[in-house]
Order: sequence, then C-alpha cells, then structure tokens
Amino acid sequence: MENQVKAMPRIGDLAPEFKAVTTQGEINFPSDYTGKWKILFSHPADFTPVCTSEFMTFASMQADFEKLNCQLVGLSVDGLHSHIAWLRTIHDKIDWNGLKNMEVKFPLIVDITMEVANLYGMIQPGESNTSAVRAVFFVDPSNRIRTIMYYPLSLGRNFDEIKRVLIGLQTVDNFGVALPADWRPGKEVIVPPAGSCGVAKSRMEGEEKDLHCYDWFFCTKQISKEEVEAKLGK
Ligand code: BEZ
Repeated sequence: MENQVKAMPRIGDLAPEFKAVTTQGEINFPSDYTGKWKILFSHPADFTPVCTSEFMTFASMQADFEKLNCQLVGLSVDGLHSHIAWLRTIHDKIDWNGLKNMEVKFPLIVDITMEVANLYGMIQPGESNTSAVRAVFFVDPSNRIRTIMYYPLSLGRNFDEIKRVLIGLQTVDNFGVALPADWRPGKEVIVPPAGSCGVAKSRMEGEEKDLHCYDWFFCTKQISKEEVEAKLGK
C-alpha cells in the first residue's frame, strides 16, 4: 500500500536484508558480512562539511575497526558519481584536523531511491524529507541489531564513542557481563543479578569472592584491560 509507514528496525531485530550498489561494488547486507560485526551508518549528503569531517575521522580509524572484526558501511541518498567525486575531493584536497590524503576504503551505498534509508528508518521527516539523518546501526556477527544511534543533521558524531560501543558489545558477549556508565576496558564490570540487564549469564555460585557489592542488586568484578583486549574481535 502506498504511504504505508514501515516499522523501523529495533534493537534485537535481525538487520533487514538489502542488495545495493556501493563505491566498492555490489553488496548484500548484512549477509555478505555474516560472522563479522557491522556498522551501517548514514549521512545526509556528499559535499557537505559535517559529513566530510565524519568520513575523514572514520577513514582514519578504519584499521582499528578491522582489528575488532568490524566492517564499516556508509550510506547517503546520493548517486555513485557524486560519491566518487566527493571521496576523491576528500583525498586530494581536504586537510582538516591533522588528517589529509584520507582514503575511504569502506563501501559507501548509493541510495538515490531512498529504499535502504527508508528500510532502516533513516529518513526522519521532522528533520528532513530529502536527506538521511546521521544513523548508526551496530549489527553483530549473527546479523542482529545490537545498538542504534541517531544524530541530527547539524551535529557530527563522536567516533570514539562509536568505537567504545563496539568494544562494549563485544565485552558483554564474551564475558556475560553488563557495563556501567562510561565503562572502558580495565574498569570494573557489572555482574547482574539473575534475569536482569539482558545478559544471558548471571551470578554463579562460588563467584562471590571476586565480587564487590555496593548493595544486593549492584555487584561488580574486575576484568583487566589485557583480558578484555585478548577477546576483542573474537
Ligand atoms: C553537513 O554535513 O555539513 C550537513 C549536512 C546536511 C545539513 C546540514 C549540515
């Protein structure tokens, strides 16, 4: 039916499948990347300043994301020629924030029809009818959506936070813990009471000696930065 409003994907849903042309050839998302983490992100338009600063930042961190077994996939509702010309301009001309000659090696989806943007709820008419907002979907190796972020057109994202979220999700999965506010590797983690925090594992008998409990419902334990880092990307 025309004008039917599609439900936006939510945390816990399987990432909707699509085929698209990109700057790196055709892709099937997420199935081409099953077994890897994926970050699917949208930006409003090529040849705009905030987006340029974001792409340069993401390109500068691509090796970090690869080490975390994570594939980056960008999208805007522009065409292939525009994408290629913009990425070439970034490489050839833009010297910003200590970054220059930045090569964007991850795929940038062509979505002139807005099909993918609509499928993922990236067109938010209160902000813009004609551009995608700045969305970030974290999709796990089994293709399930684990975190979603939305930013408006005028505010560039914090890429350090994007990396922290990816590391946090991998830590949750590998250690069966939850993570407190502002957690970073090496800080204490939360061992949730049974059936809370969406974590499969909960406190085990015999584990008490390693726990620090602020109250019965708030117990933590230490996992070293080295232990966390040894598991990342797995
Ligand atoms: C930007 O990326 O600079 C931008 C894009 C769309 C609207 C406003 C800013």
